[in-house]
Amino acid sequence: MSDLLSTFAQRVVDWQLSHGRQHLPWQHTTDPYRIWLSEIMLQQTQVSTVLGYYERFLARFPTVHALAAAHQDEVMPYWAGLGYYARARNLHRCAQTVQEQYQGQFPTDSRVLASLPGIGPSTAAAIAAFSVGERAPIMDGNVKRVFCRYFGVYGPTHLRATEKQLWQLAHQALEQAPADLNMSAYTQGQMDLGAQVCSRGQPACSLCPLQEGCYALAHQVQTELPTPKPRTQQAERSCHMLIWQQGEQVLLEQRPNQGIWGGMLSLPQFEIEADLAQFLINHGTQLHQAQKMAEFTHVFSHFKLHITPWWLKNPTVLYEPKPDERWLKSEELAVAALPAPVSKLLSAFPF
Ligand code: ADE
Ligand code: SF4
Repeated sequence: MSDLLSTFAQRVVDWQLSHGRQHLPWQHTTDPYRIWLSEIMLQQTQVSTVLGYYERFLARFPTVHALAAAHQDEVMPYWAGLGYYARARNLHRCAQTVQEQYQGQFPTDSRVLASLPGIGPSTAAAIAAFSVGERAPIMDGNVKRVFCRYFGVYGPTHLRATEKQLWQLAHQALEQAPADLNMSAYTQGQMDLGAQVCSRGQPACSLCPLQEGCYALAHQVQTELPTPKPRTQQAERSCHMLIWQQGEQVLLEQRPNQGIWGGMLSLPQFEIEADLAQFLINHGTQLHQAQKMAEFTHVFSHFKLHITPWWLKNPTVLYEPKPDERWLKSEELAVAALPAPVSKLLSAFPF
């Protein structure tokens, strides 16, 4: 067992330096602000998607000071399309906390980092390892897969007991590693292995530096590990969206702060047709004045949303928007930070 553990980290480092990713824009910097930004963007989002966002964001907000000084509304457009908008709100709150409590000096200690908004223990460890080489282990989704397979850990990884076992192994692997271990290569190497070699579908074991001693390879159980989460039904929801067109303008409303589109501007949205009908009556018009359009589906990672748009074109009522509602002109729509399916729907519209 101890050989499994004591050689693990150095093999990952050697492989990273010869075969891992070397040219990502957030490598080769030790600026914790830049590293933090990349790690937050990379949560739940692929490297290829993040690249463009990362450059644009840093061009506009080059320092934690610049980000903290901006209004949240200035930040959202630089995030629109990345999804999981709570990340962007936490990002902004975190920058303000660093500005106020740490005089704008971004922390590099993993325990301090983990106390900041939006930074979990694995992200905190990654930032500390990349910026100052702190010997702190990470355990994100990709790394869990490598550990489950290599060490033969069974049990769904979202369960406390499994997670605890994985963190314990991660700590032990570091404790037994050489004192001069290259922490940024180790941290990046675990991510790279999980993304490029020990991948979800068919791991490329013949290219893996961990072949020797790998439990899953020896027992040919690569596809059984990690143990899948018990299957629950894919959640599906449906809603109705209102496109209230008044000349060149469309009515938009601010979404409540909770949920995936929390705080964003979007089309008025209703769970059932009767709620839409009531809204229209309250606003001096009626459902039959609106034209029902073809339903389409937007797929999130954890559920599907079936959207039925309704087009209400130039009703003969004068409507004064409430404080959380706004009329937007077509050219404003094009640049507003709207949810992706709403942008798509409106861009296909003949205003
Ligand atoms: N995912 C999370 N952090 C990452 C990193 N530093 N490089 C590539 N993918 C990542
Ligand atoms: Fe994953 Fe295969 Fe490497 Fe084992 S040998 S860690 S299963 S890629």
